[in-house]
Amino acid sequence: MNDGDGTHTGQERRFGPLGTALVIIPTYNEAENIKAIVGRVRQAVPEAHVLVADDNSPDGTGKLADELAVEDEHVQVLHRKGKEGLGAAYLAGFHWGLEHGYGVLVEMDADGSHQPEELPRLLTALKSADLVLGSRWVPGGRVVNWPRSREFISRGGSLYSRVALDLPLRDITGGYRAFRRETLEGLGLDDVASQGYCFQVDLARRAVKAGYHVVEVPITFVERELGDSKMSRDILVEALWRVTTWGVGERVGRLTARGKRAQP
Ligand code: GDD
Ligand code: MN
Repeated sequence: MNDGDGTHTGQERRFGPLGTALVIIPTYNEAENIKAIVGRVRQAVPEAHVLVADDNSPDGTGKLADELAVEDEHVQVLHRKGKEGLGAAYLAGFHWGLEHGYGVLVEMDADGSHQPEELPRLLTALKSADLVLGSRWVPGGRVVNWPRSREFISRGGSLYSRVALDLPLRDITGGYRAFRRETLEGLGLDDVASQGYCFQVDLARRAVKAGYHVVEVPITFVERELGDSKMSRDILVEALWRVTTWGVGERVGRLTARGKRAQP
């Protein structure tokens, strides 16, 4: 864990063995995708378990997930009462997974953008890391079938977060990640307020500031073929607003600390 100065590289660290992985898949109206994605996870990493965190999707995704759970004891479903955002669904999924003793908690989209076949590489990297980010913007990473406009927003969001929050990371908004349970326990999830996709920025920021060893692994992100993205203007505005607030807060905090030190 944190060695106190926040500067360790991970090389001098000893990492414990990885426990059983729980792949958390948040869903809102993913009826066309849910069976395929769960099947691919089960095939790619047969020892892992799957938790579908469904926000009472009107298209019946939750019921389809229940059918999968009946057939397969590695599949569970967390039914939530309504659409509360990606961040809230993941927080509920993390709590469930920690309570049930999983050693690794994975975030994965339901629409096939995060390829389960790449999960073994993330898990291998996690053997010597506290948190692994699947990354589109490191060498070897890429995006397939995204419109230029969406790539611009995503690259811009990561660049802005990198500069505003002073983070040594390339893909800060991505949602394909693997956490050791100890990392999540150390992040202080109770006061995470981020609802939309800035939840991802929030967790990356917390992990770096707490001195955890965060590693980026290149992934190929494939845009969905079925169903619709839930990205919206409100989600973007929340992200911009929160990242800016955190960035300003950190700078003010540093200046105040320097001012106090300067006084006799
Ligand atoms: N339970 C729940 N509740 N699930 C949700 C909600 C919600 O309010 N909103 C979205 N999801 C689920 C979707 O059903 C899907 O499985 C996953 O979250 C990602 O949603 P998409 O709508 O497909 O996201 P995207 O492709 O536009 O965005 C991707 O890129 C973002 C920015 O780089 C995702 O990978 C995001 O995680 C990422 O932040
Ligand atoms: Mn998507």
